[in-house]
Amino acid sequence: MTAEYKVHGDVAVITLNNPPVNGLGHATRQGIVDGLERAQADAAVKAIVITGAGGAFSGGADIKEFGTDKALQEPNLHSVILAVENASKPVVAAIHTVCMGGGLELALGCHYRVAAPGTSVALPEVKLGILPGAGGTQRLPRVVGVEAALNMIVSGEPVKSELIGAVPGQKLFDKMAASPAALAEEALAFARSVADVRPLPLVRNLPCKHPEGDAYFQFARNMVKGMAKNFPAPAKCVDAVEAATRRKFADGLAYERELFINLMWTPESRALRHIFFSERAASKIPDVPSDTPQRIIQKVGVIGAGTMGGGITMNFLNAGIPVTILETKQEALDRGVATIRKNYEAQVKKGKLKEDKYQQRMALLSTTLAYGDLKDADLIIEAVFEEMGVKEAVFKQLDEVAKPGAILASNTSTLDVDQIAAFTKRPQDVVGMHFFSPANVMKLLEVVRGKQTAKDVLATVMAVAKKIKKTAVVSGVCDGFIGNRMIERYSQQAGFLLDEGCTPQQVDKAIEKFGFAMGPFRMGDLAGNDIGWAIRKRRAIEKPDMKYSKTADLLCELGRFGQKTGAGWYDYQAGKRDAIPSEVVNQMIEAHRKTLGVAPRKVSDEEIVQRLVFSLVNEGAKILEEGIASKSGDIDMVYLTGYGFPIHRGGPMHYATEVGLFNVVQAMKRFAANPMDDAKAWAPAPLLARLAAEGKSFQ
Ligand code: 3HC
Ligand code: NAI
Repeated sequence: MTAEYKVHGDVAVITLNNPPVNGLGHATRQGIVDGLERAQADAAVKAIVITGAGGAFSGGADIKEFGTDKALQEPNLHSVILAVENASKPVVAAIHTVCMGGGLELALGCHYRVAAPGTSVALPEVKLGILPGAGGTQRLPRVVGVEAALNMIVSGEPVKSELIGAVPGQKLFDKMAASPAALAEEALAFARSVADVRPLPLVRNLPCKHPEGDAYFQFARNMVKGMAKNFPAPAKCVDAVEAATRRKFADGLAYERELFINLMWTPESRALRHIFFSERAASKIPDVPSDTPQRIIQKVGVIGAGTMGGGITMNFLNAGIPVTILETKQEALDRGVATIRKNYEAQVKKGKLKEDKYQQRMALLSTTLAYGDLKDADLIIEAVFEEMGVKEAVFKQLDEVAKPGAILASNTSTLDVDQIAAFTKRPQDVVGMHFFSPANVMKLLEVVRGKQTAKDVLATVMAVAKKIKKTAVVSGVCDGFIGNRMIERYSQQAGFLLDEGCTPQQVDKAIEKFGFAMGPFRMGDLAGNDIGWAIRKRRAIEKPDMKYSKTADLLCELGRFGQKTGAGWYDYQAGKRDAIPSEVVNQMIEAHRKTLGVAPRKVSDEEIVQRLVFSLVNEGAKILEEGIASKSGDIDMVYLTGYGFPIHRGGPMHYATEVGLFNVVQAMKRFAANPMDDAKAWAPAPLLARLAAEGKSFQ
């Protein structure tokens, strides 16, 4: 039963019961219609209440149905709302906890609404690349005013019911319940108090006007243009709300419906829906059940107060968790703490952090030079130099002092977590926590699961990640884990493109037009080209047959490490970050082509994008096949939250699915035939080849 029916004296109560959020899937919609019919047929029933069981009134349409026949199958949401409006007896929505999307639209179709305080009220459809498609754009402006409604619809952000309830003249809520616990009783009493009212009030009959219509909607259009450059939905939200002010209700509703259906089929909406589910799925580990007991994390230790240690520390201080940082020298500690202070002070200056909050956070920080001071820590994260010898010394000492059950984590970006775990007598307690720089800002956390990492350690670290507001993705142990292993292929392609005829700015522009926040060369200059140089030197020993362009090495030999040295792939003016195309670099690339005996050719933007993105896809497919990542959505989350992959493309694996895996493989075969390229790297991963041949996708 996804909608329950019960009669309380003379009031029928229809309770949506479709966990987790009472999504309005087909069975639930049918349940509402059935309940309405029963109530109307029962002469003893004078009024009807619709409410939700558990932790939501309703989270809206069932997103899992989107793209399937069920989404529009009768009774669709429109028909349900029409049945509510046409009911011969008053229908009262008793709203609590979450009232979103189609849930709010259903409530707006009811004759009356009683709300519990603390309810999150939203039309969040825009976050899924669509707009409210069951009358939300037509009814909400009629009850909260055009501007307030448009703000809610374009932002998708929730507003608390008590704030809306306090606005003079608002017609969204007829009554605010005294408390969530009092809602059921108060809604019943309210329903009885309106049992005899006729004609029944309908939101659709309320007027909808904006006094400065043209000017206001022009202003709104300009606003959304700036903030939503890759997404069509926000501008359509403005169109739909404007229609509410200009058209008859039925025409506005039909127009909204047309826009909704068109948006539902856009690649941008598919990408956002994929991200919605992937984000939630990433926190689930197939063989670690959600009820796995977790260890208690109340105190954290961080080893190393450098670039990463400082950022990692801030995450925990922000979440109210005390941290002790350990270093080898007092100067290093002082430097690290000063950087943390500087970061917080910059936030205070910008008005993003209150002074007292800053002081509260700093009060949670302590420093030490002695390992003994970490004996009470529940979680200790190591962020020292990237050398196995240094990691060995640190983990051996941690093994001596850490209390039994403490989780020992390494922030290593390239080293073998299993080898690190083996330095201790408790490999089950060791895990990788690979933060991204700047660690206090970047959302991504790769949780590296060693061969022996215990399940409760993984469950705990995933929960900790949520607490410090990171998107955690589990990776198996391999060189570079998910993200950096894939980026190596991307960088390899970026280098070949220079050898073949591109300039760094052409490559950057093409991939930035595709939507990346930054192209590979601007990114290299920001992160420091010397990092990749050091990795390539190591690779030259480990994988001597790996083919790559030597341009990046030549650049580093010129001392052009990027922004920090004032010169990299681009030139930089003192104190500025604007990337200026560099004559020196262009000449260096040309000279290198001559030594290779290559005549430059014109490479299209399409080829640039395909080579960069499909190189990620092929490595991603290998990662998936080897079980380093357990789901393709995990790989997408890594790229979306850690590498600036365009959100509207949904991540590399989703993008490949959109292009069609068959087409991806065909393109890879073309690239493999290019003598300047690395044919071996373009050999399709067996998983990719198989799915493409079977006409399947990664999902
Ligand atoms: N349909 C299907 N499943 C949904 C859902 C929905 N509308 N909303 C949430 N869920 C599922 C999630 O996938 C998750 O499932 P899982 O446990 O299997 O991973 C579970 O509910 C819990 O979700 P969260 O982890 O996000 O739980 P929170 O408590 O943090 O948040 C929430 C709850 C605020 C409702 C949040 O899930 C949310 O924002 N959901 C999306 C709401 C939304 O976009 N509604 C509009 C839908 S489109 C629509 O209504 C179209 C209409 O206009 C015609
Ligand atoms: P860093 O050089 O800025 O900081 C390292 C700090 O560790 C220094 O302050 C140093 O004094 C301290 N240290 C060295 N040996 C120590 C020891 N035995 N005990 C205590 N402290 C010691 O280095 P960074 O960039 O912070 O890197 C740290 C780790 O994080 C490395 O493993 C690196 O691979 C990883 N990492 C770095 C990223 C980056 O972008 N910088 C991104 C993700 C991971």
